[in-house]
Amino acid sequence: MIIDGKQAAAELRKQLSVQVDQLQQEKNIIPGLTVILVGEDPASEVYVRNKVRQTRELGMNSNEIRLPADTGEAELLARLEQLNRDSEVHGILVQLPLPAHIDEARILAAIDPQKDVDGFHALNSGRLFNGSGDALVPCTPQGCVILAKRHLGNDLNGKHAVVIGRSNIVGKPVAILLLQENCTVTIAHSRTENLAGLCRQADILVAAVGRPHFVRGDWIKPGATVIDVGINRIADAGGKSRLVGDVDYQAAVEVAGAITPVPGGVGPMTIACLLKNTLAAARRYG
Ligand code: GUN
Repeated sequence: MIIDGKQAAAELRKQLSVQVDQLQQEKNIIPGLTVILVGEDPASEVYVRNKVRQTRELGMNSNEIRLPADTGEAELLARLEQLNRDSEVHGILVQLPLPAHIDEARILAAIDPQKDVDGFHALNSGRLFNGSGDALVPCTPQGCVILAKRHLGNDLNGKHAVVIGRSNIVGKPVAILLLQENCTVTIAHSRTENLAGLCRQADILVAAVGRPHFVRGDWIKPGATVIDVGINRIADAGGKSRLVGDVDYQAAVEVAGAITPVPGGVGPMTIACLLKNTLAAARRYG
């Protein structure tokens, strides 16, 4: 079975759209998202365009700030300070990666945690870690859990989840969310011994390594739920490029109980969860 992320994202957006209308009618608040893009990374440009378009389609305000690649850290910090003070901006997203001369951690720490719709600020990761319920939670991990639950009848209790990848953006937060769903969670990474054997024990396998076709078909336990977070551009035989995940999809689809395709799996859910966080920020702090 294929887990349709496009469909799941469309359903989530439909629910959010009703809530956006309600917030406007009841409190006269229109959620507003500002996305900052520094430089001209083509993949980031596509993501940002999609984020801005979908925010507007939902009836929210969206603003894109594009800055040249040589923008200084001080300039970016000044922009953030301005946005932190702007009462019409409920969500601020700085698209990553940033150019090498900018200290990413410093930038993320400068975003008002109440407007941190990426959930990358230490206050939000701390709240997620503590399970205090009021965190703005990173979008891709939220999307992964929604898709896994969608396939498994909303119930992940007692499942063994193996997460490959330990980034702050995906691996670590998705592991915590799965733990909150009562999974038994193993976090694996590039130094893990016998990774294939470990993956074969997973009821839920989340691949977030950023390497095309890294997870082979014979690493997958028959019937497992496979969530593929990878978005890798590779050259195909005809000299064109195409997007593939971290999982060897053709092989995995024969073994898995369900799998997310790339594209059309986790990707659309990431953006839908960004819209969800923007609405949540506007509701809570607007
Ligand atoms: N670059 C790749 N993924 C993300 C994300 O989730 N948020 C931001 N801000 N940048 C990214």
